[in-house]
Amino acid sequence: MRKKFIVGNMKMNKLPSEIGPYIERLKPLVKDAEGDVVLCVPSTNIQNAVLHTKGTNIKVGAQNMYWKAQGAFTGAVSPLMIKDLGAEYVLVGHSERRQLFIETDWSVNKKVAAALEYGLTPIVCIGENLEQRAHNRIEEVIIVQLSLALRDIPKHDIHKIIIAYEPLWAIGTGQTPKKEEVNEIIGWVREKIRTSYGEKIAEEMIIQYGGSVNATNSKRFFNMPEIDGGLVGGACLEPEEFAKIINYND
Ligand code: 13P
Repeated sequence: MRKKFIVGNMKMNKLPSEIGPYIERLKPLVKDAEGDVVLCVPSTNIQNAVLHTKGTNIKVGAQNMYWKAQGAFTGAVSPLMIKDLGAEYVLVGHSERRQLFIETDWSVNKKVAAALEYGLTPIVCIGENLEQRAHNRIEEVIIVQLSLALRDIPKHDIHKIIIAYEPLWAIGTGQTPKKEEVNEIIGWVREKIRTSYGEKIAEEMIIQYGGSVNATNSKRFFNMPEIDGGLVGGACLEPEEFAKIINYND
């Protein structure tokens, strides 16, 4: 039985000085959470986030990284640096990175491999845009993104990867697909994992939903059998609302 996995993606929000007070408010509200809780913060906030989550059930992740360990890559942050600060997760291929920072399926694949090499858990984002959806291309688009992200990753590492299905048109819009549709689409992703890597890995794999998840709709999504929790953007910025999402069954 897979555990629910709830990740907050703070995007480019909160100052390094604000993340400690935020976590101190979140901590008591989620201490009895049944699922796993991860907070993906800006790289500047990782150190404080790790400090304030020590000894709690909240884990820390980064939102991006380069795939090299060190070197002449001005402005980039490496998996080793993230790991050294105490983060355990990293978002890879978020649609904002793909759209605004020209991240490609190729670079996503490099980052997945690097995250695994340096002991970080990659949370790989896939999802269709509105036009692809209108042309009934959802399955094709997400399966291609998935296959390219996992290309040449050894089979024994696949179960360590988390997938987040985030349709682009649902991000930050307040619009969401129906829970049955998300359940079906995540089922396609799991089926692809099953045919490529076998039943056991497919059953272990955490596959989340992201896109306008909030305290009102989280229960609806997270109680579906294929949906292993969520990747939460805007609604994670207030600890009280994020806690309600995490404690969706209360
Ligand atoms: P929203 O929850 O703000 O729609 O963002 C979703 C997202 O992009 C999480 O990574």
